[in-house]
Amino acid sequence: MKNQIKINKVIQPFKKKIYVSSDKSLSIRCVLLSSIALGTSRIFNLLKSEDVLSTLDAIKKIGVNYRKKKNYIEIDGVGINGFKIKNNTIINAGNSGTLARCILGLCSSINNKIKLVGDQSLSKRDFSRVIKPLRLFGANVRSRNGMLPVELTGSDLNRPIKYFENKGSAQIKTCIILSAINTPGITKIKAIRSRDHSELMLKSFKYPIKIKKTKKYDLIDIKGMSQFKAFNYEIPGDISSASFFIVLTLLSKDSELLIKDVNVNPSRIGIITILNRMNAKIKIINKRNYKGEQKGDIKIKSRKNFKSIICPASLNSSAIDEFMLIFLVACKSQGISTFKNLNELNKKESPRLNIAIKFMKMIGIKVIRKKNDIKIFGNPNLKLKKKYHMKKFLKDHRIFMMSVIAALTLGGNGWMVEDKDSIKTSFPNFLNILKILGAKIN
Ligand code: S3P
Repeated sequence: MKNQIKINKVIQPFKKKIYVSSDKSLSIRCVLLSSIALGTSRIFNLLKSEDVLSTLDAIKKIGVNYRKKKNYIEIDGVGINGFKIKNNTIINAGNSGTLARCILGLCSSINNKIKLVGDQSLSKRDFSRVIKPLRLFGANVRSRNGMLPVELTGSDLNRPIKYFENKGSAQIKTCIILSAINTPGITKIKAIRSRDHSELMLKSFKYPIKIKKTKKYDLIDIKGMSQFKAFNYEIPGDISSASFFIVLTLLSKDSELLIKDVNVNPSRIGIITILNRMNAKIKIINKRNYKGEQKGDIKIKSRKNFKSIICPASLNSSAIDEFMLIFLVACKSQGISTFKNLNELNKKESPRLNIAIKFMKMIGIKVIRKKNDIKIFGNPNLKLKKKYHMKKFLKDHRIFMMSVIAALTLGGNGWMVEDKDSIKTSFPNFLNILKILGAKIN
């Protein structure tokens, strides 16, 4: 099957209601936490994607059984420190940074040796960010240059830690939280605010975790070795997947979209805050609470007059996976938009900041970069005339999907976008939903 698509025309006006795929962060966390719960958990609406399949494979390797049922998946939790791991077990995290970083925390007190590996993209990513706190817990972790493969042979000392998480990374924070759970005593984390799904999930299980929010930081105290019971959980839609359709609608002509049942946790909706400051008028309606998380429906209409923005770095973490889409809107805005401190964008499945800049220059937008800050010189009358070819780059699903949205909204004389298969990691249904909205994709 060919792994590239062709788009020759922008999408025609549409007025529709859609559902997007389930949230990836919540799906991975639910599987990992159910593995150390006591008893059988049921997860409804689990995302069916490669990253989540890798997570299910990973828990199987450490001795946790699961069964796929018609509407849910059942996972037989083994309790904290109950894993049965054969020596020299190899865990393949595939493309998933979240799984890879979090499973190291989950397994930090094991006895036998595990070796963590991943695909070409994951093998280029930084693991020193989790190796450092894990070593403070007393874990024996080995890696060359702070990258995969990482070997873990459990912990000698097993002591709680105090840690300052200064990157605004939820993966580092969750790795520490999971390690704290299998370590006796109270671990204290001061973290630059980032998505708080792990904390909210644990709270909903009545786990002894305290969270104090200051203006910039989350102060988390977590007591180790408190066994919690199996749970039921229903995963809502993923705001990161919804974002492609938010920007598609905003940049299309005379269109309206309602995206139903999306997780709108405040730590995830940076894209809505930022785009609304740029005059997007996106609405969240029908908001409700589910186990501490917020769920809602997102209403979007096409817009014409976008304003530029000086985006404060304090919003970076809440929009971290959505910046390439935000940049597309900045390209069509009146004025010069500024984004600061985007270094973490280059630490993703591929160096997204570098690629986004190349992309914007390719479509004729002036961009100035100073270290990790960029200025985008918007052009509301942007009209593309050439043929464009987006080549495969390190299997990055979000680059593929952003390029498709650009092709369907900005025009040009035909687009070829490679690496269609990359969507399997997070949003296998992406192209089908676009076709339902009327996109012509070959
Ligand atoms: C995620 C956290 C973010 C995000 C990733 C998912 C998570 O990464 O980019 O797609 O589920 O915890 P960082 O923690 O590295 O910022």
